[in-house]
Amino acid sequence: MKKKEKMVACIIMVVMLIIGAAGYSMVEKKPDIPIRLLYKTNAGKVLFDHNMHSTEYDIGCIDCHHYYEEGEGMPLSCIECHYKDGDNYSRAEAFHSQCLDCHKEQETGPVKCGECHVM
Ligand code: HEC
Ligand code: HEC
Ligand code: HEC
Ligand code: HEC
Repeated sequence: MKKKEKMVACIIMVVMLIIGAAGYSMVEKKPDIPIRLLYKTNAGKVLFDHNMHSTEYDIGCIDCHHYYEEGEGMPLSCIECHYKDGDNYSRAEAFHSQCLDCHKEQETGPVKCGECHVM
């Protein structure tokens, strides 16, 4: 190879290394803040737009992740604590209570079954 060609090959290799490293670090970052979550239920599917609620509607993380303390990493999923087991609050109960309470309180957002269970 000529000197110039070697130089070009070298630059290409460095660029590819940087792209590779950036891609790898993006895969490593977990858990990500969800964009949208889809829940399949026997009353029909519910689409929860996590990103819209958190950014557009300007609701603080802790208003929903009630056990969460800032600076503790990422909040836990609700299902970690709210699953059906004896008297435990199931996740569906936790959702129906929290989602609906806020929608009623703010007089906006769906409160009728079919407005959430749309699919
Ligand atoms: C309007 C309510 C609401 C707001 C506001 C909100 N979240 Fe969530 N978040 C949820 C719900 C509901 C889930 C799904 C939990 C489940 O399926 O058990 C969730 C899931 C998550 C998860 C995934 C957890 C896992 O391990 O699966 C992360 C991470 C998260 N939220 C971070 C945040 C952060 C950070 C903020 C603030 C910038 C925030 N959330 C604001 C309701 C909310
Ligand atoms: C680390 C455990 C934990 C996580 C994670 C958690 N909760 Fe809770 N939550 C509790 C406990 C403990 C209570 C009180 C006892 C009970 O009612 O089960 C509670 C109570 C509630 C209540 C009833 C509040 C009241 O005033 O009656 C709602 C609604 C609720 N949680 C919703 C959620 C939602 C939605 C999420 C996810 C965004 C979530 N929780 C995540 C532990 C947790
Ligand atoms: C702390 C308040 C709050 C909580 C908690 C909350 N919401 Fe909402 N939600 C809103 C607001 C505000 C709107 C915006 C309504 C509008 O003006 O369009 C909304 C709108 C919606 C909409 C219709 C528009 C859209 O973004 O898709 C759906 C569906 C919805 N919410 C589902 C849920 C579900 C499911 C949960 C529980 C997991 C939940 N919400 C919890 C405040 C809340
Ligand atoms: C604000 C949105 C919202 C409204 C309004 C709503 N739901 Fe739900 N519902 C949900 C979400 C989200 C889940 C998913 C819970 C899960 O997968 O843990 C759910 C779950 C369910 C389930 C499955 C329960 C289980 O234990 O798996 C049934 C049944 C249900 N809803 C019926 C209803 C009925 C009936 C109404 C009206 C009286 C209603 N829902 C109103 C959001 C809503």
